[in-house]
Amino acid sequence: MQPNPVPDPMIDGLALAVPAPGHNLPPAAFTSRDVFEVEQRAIFAKSWIHVCDLRDVPAPGSFMTAQIGRSPIIILRDRAGELRGFLNACRHRGAQLLDGSGTCDKQIKCPYHAWSYGLDGKLLGVPYRDEFDCNFDELRLVPVRVGVVGPMIFACIDPTAPAFETWVGGLAAYGTALEAMDFAWEKTYELEANWKIFVENANDGYHVQFVHDVLTDALVPDTDVTTLEPHSAYTFANINPAYLPPDKDPADAKIRFGHIFPNLIPVISPGDFTYIRVDPIAHDRLRLFVRSYDTPEAADFRELRKAAFEHTTKQDIAVVLRTMRGLYAEGLPAGVLASELEI
Ligand code: FES
Ligand SMILES: [Fe+2]
Repeated sequence: MQPNPVPDPMIDGLALAVPAPGHNLPPAAFTSRDVFEVEQRAIFAKSWIHVCDLRDVPAPGSFMTAQIGRSPIIILRDRAGELRGFLNACRHRGAQLLDGSGTCDKQIKCPYHAWSYGLDGKLLGVPYRDEFDCNFDELRLVPVRVGVVGPMIFACIDPTAPAFETWVGGLAAYGTALEAMDFAWEKTYELEANWKIFVENANDGYHVQFVHDVLTDALVPDTDVTTLEPHSAYTFANINPAYLPPDKDPADAKIRFGHIFPNLIPVISPGDFTYIRVDPIAHDRLRLFVRSYDTPEAADFRELRKAAFEHTTKQDIAVVLRTMRGLYAEGLPAGVLASELEI
């Protein structure tokens, strides 16, 4: 006798199963508060998430705070210059320890009852220590896994999640070249849309020729090839030779659009690297954090590339907002997806 199949989880009245091939999630998966809350625990808390870059924590004592799902975390450089990650929560009563970014001298001091920790997470100081009946040696800051590829720092709060190298896959091969690039510019956007709509749009090659003028012109039609890895997807396309310096072989000049699950969109081209991180703020709100790096040879075209990015992103934002508005339509069935163009 066959065992009963495991029922699909019910969230906000939705049976959320993996959609049938060629079908999207139901519209309510993009508009439900409850689905959003479950995603924070079931997706973000179990994934490697980009949190900041090496340039954000340049020297011993530098720290940067971030959030993975609902969990506040700290990335810092200890006194030996090693990168470390911790939950940003005191082992006494749980108060958040650090805010924003900056430099902590030799210790992290809790603003509540003044417990202090070394930059290695060890508990150092406890006022009125005699009043506690506990093993202070066990009360270190809770460590968080940290991984680096190119200029980017990722963190993971799930000790059972796959190894970082497995998660980032083929991107690691570009790490040295990307780390050698110079910081070019950064930008943030906030918009009233569910984070998955922006990520899906970034994986959607179908809309490019209908929505983007500059981007369409910059690519050679029908040269795109998509590869899938366990936690990433990449599409390579040839760059229009008119956009290349004369000494560049057009056959080697590819742009590599990527998606590292769940929310990072790295785009690599021969002279520059730009990523978009899609931060989930609420079921109907996201923030884009964008940073760009380039090589000295490509720096002359920095402003041009930035203008092209802003132009293209404005076009993407318009269709993402339009999709969010449409998905509120009561009674709208789940959408359908093209087999190759909308991986
Ligand atoms: S919560 Fe941090 S010292 Fe009390
Ligand atoms: Fe687009």
